Amino acid sequence: MNANEIKALELSNKRSGVKVFVAGSYEALSKKAASIVAGAINNKPSFLLGLATGTSPIGLYEELANLNHEGRVDFSEVTTYNLDEYYPIDPANDQSYRYFMNKHLFNNINIDMNRTHVLFGQAPDWKVECAEYDKAIAEQGGIDLQVLGIGNNGHIGFNEPGRDFIWGTHRVELTESTIEANSRLFNSADEVPRAALSMGIGNIMCAKQVVLVANGPKKAQAIKDALEGEISPYCQASILQLHPNVTFIIDEEAASMLDAYKAL
Ligand code: F6R
Repeated sequence: MNANEIKALELSNKRSGVKVFVAGSYEALSKKAASIVAGAINNKPSFLLGLATGTSPIGLYEELANLNHEGRVDFSEVTTYNLDEYYPIDPANDQSYRYFMNKHLFNNINIDMNRTHVLFGQAPDWKVECAEYDKAIAEQGGIDLQVLGIGNNGHIGFNEPGRDFIWGTHRVELTESTIEANSRLFNSADEVPRAALSMGIGNIMCAKQVVLVANGPKKAQAIKDALEGEISPYCQASILQLHPNVTFIIDEEAASMLDAYKAL
């Protein structure tokens, strides 16, 4: 594929209505994702946008900022809710997800900061924090579009592989594999917080639209399990097969294990 190319994949998995696009480069992937997000906002300016952190959506956020500067999308009436935050963590800490969002998106677009919501990493009572987050989202009619990345182990948000799908916002003890994956952003694995607050699978499944971005070879197994595997809490992203409006936008490396990609 050339760098600007985008190809739609035809999944043989009949259960899944997920739309899949493979992009020839990270830039093309980010532009495609940004055009979907910006298009949805343009159709409904007072939009509830669910956001993810991590390295995967950084290009998408840069592209949204470009579109905003070109006057092609307006965030002045957009409200955002982020998927997750470490717990405990000071929001001013440069490893917090609040810091990440300010740096990579909120400071670069015309959004009202009072409309940006990230779970508070220093909440005295995490149960109250989680319940209020769910209530606020529900009272505003639910998330219109949720941006997702995917963990190497198939997690979405911090919903880690395990026996259950957990519905609402909750506290999570991070797995060793996630601590290890995230330690690249800290001085050492010892500094990675051991817990997080995360939206649940219900919050994500109730979003009217989902856009998942993934790139690189480390995501290939998770993408394979999510799209062509059984629906199982051991790959939390696999539940997206049941969502009526999901788009995966992935690069060739992340797509490399899909039967549908090999058949191209
Ligand atoms: C972050 C989040 C996580 C990440 C996932 C992938 O808010 O919810 O599920 O999306 O860990 O992270 P990256 O993009 O850094 O590979």
